[in-house]
Amino acid sequence: MRQCFFLSSSSLLLFFFLILQQNPSLINAVEPNLVDKTCKKCINSTVSYNFCLTSLQAVPISNYSNLPGLALIAMELGIKNCTTTISTIKKLIGSKYFDRQSLEDCLELYSDASVVLGDSIRAFLSGLYESVIRWLSGTMVAATACEDQFLVAGNPSPLTKENYSLIQLTDIAICITKLISQGLVSKPVTTLSDGRQVREI
Ligand SMILES: *[C@@H]1O[C@H](CO)[C@@H](O)[C@H](O)[C@H]1NC(C)=O
Ligand SMILES: *[C@@H]1O[C@H](CO)[C@@H](O)[C@H](O)[C@H]1NC(C)=O
Ligand SMILES: *[C@@H]1O[C@H](CO)[C@@H](O)[C@H](O)[C@H]1NC(C)=O
Ligand SMILES: *[C@@H]1O[C@H](CO)[C@@H](O)[C@H](O)[C@H]1NC(C)=O
Repeated sequence: MRQCFFLSSSSLLLFFFLILQQNPSLINAVEPNLVDKTCKKCINSTVSYNFCLTSLQAVPISNYSNLPGLALIAMELGIKNCTTTISTIKKLIGSKYFDRQSLEDCLELYSDASVVLGDSIRAFLSGLYESVIRWLSGTMVAATACEDQFLVAGNPSPLTKENYSLIQLTDIAICITKLISQGLVSKPVTTLSDGRQVREI
C-alpha cells in the first residue's frame, strides 16, 4: 500500500511559508474577506457555505492568502482528511462490525486519493489547471466508490462523514481552480522580446 502524504498543521504552515517565499505573487493584492467571498461563489448542492468557511478559516494563513493560496489550503486539508480517514479505517478493520473487504478497498481508495491530491498540488504550482480539475474530480470518484463498496456489501458505511468532507474539500479546490483559470483567460497576453507569450497573473 502506498504511504500517505502526511502533513501536520505545523508542517502545513511551514509548507505555505515556503510556497509564499518562492511565489511572492501568492501574497500580493490580498482582498479583504476573500474566504467569505470565495465560499459564497463555491456553494452548490454539494458544498455548504458553513463547511467551506469553517474549514478554510481554521487555517490561520487563509486570511492572508489570495485565491491560489486558498486552493492550496483546500487541497492540503483534503490530504489531512485522507490521512485521518486512513487511520480510522485501520482501526475499523480490526472490528467485526463492518465489512472487511469494503474497508480494505476504502483504505486503498483513500490512500490513492491522498497521492492524487499531492500530485494535484504539484500540478497546481506549475499552472496545469486542467490537470488539477481532472485529477481532483478523480478523488471524488474514489470517495464515492468507497461508499458504493458498503452499499454492494449490504453493510452500513462507517465512513459517510469522511466521504462528505473529502468531496466538499475537493469541490472547493476545483471551484477555486476554475475561478483562477477563468480569470486568467481575461488577463492580457504579453509577447516577450524572444517571441514567447506570457499571460499576466
Ligand atoms: C480570519 O478572518 C475572519 C473574518 O474576518 C475572522 O472571523 C477569523 O477569526 C480570522 N481568523 C484568524 C485565524 O485570524
Ligand atoms: C475533514 O476536514 C474537515 C475540514 O477541515 C474537518 O472538519 C473534518 O473533521 C475532517 N474529517 C476528517 C475525517 O479528517
Ligand atoms: C458522498 O458525499 C457526496 C457529496 O456530499 C454525496 O453526494 C453522496 O451522496 C455521498 N455518498 C454517500 C453514500 O453518502
Ligand atoms: C459543485 O461545484 C464543483 C466545483 O465547481 C463541481 O465540481 C461539482 O460538480 C458541483 N456539484 C454539483 C452537485 O453541482
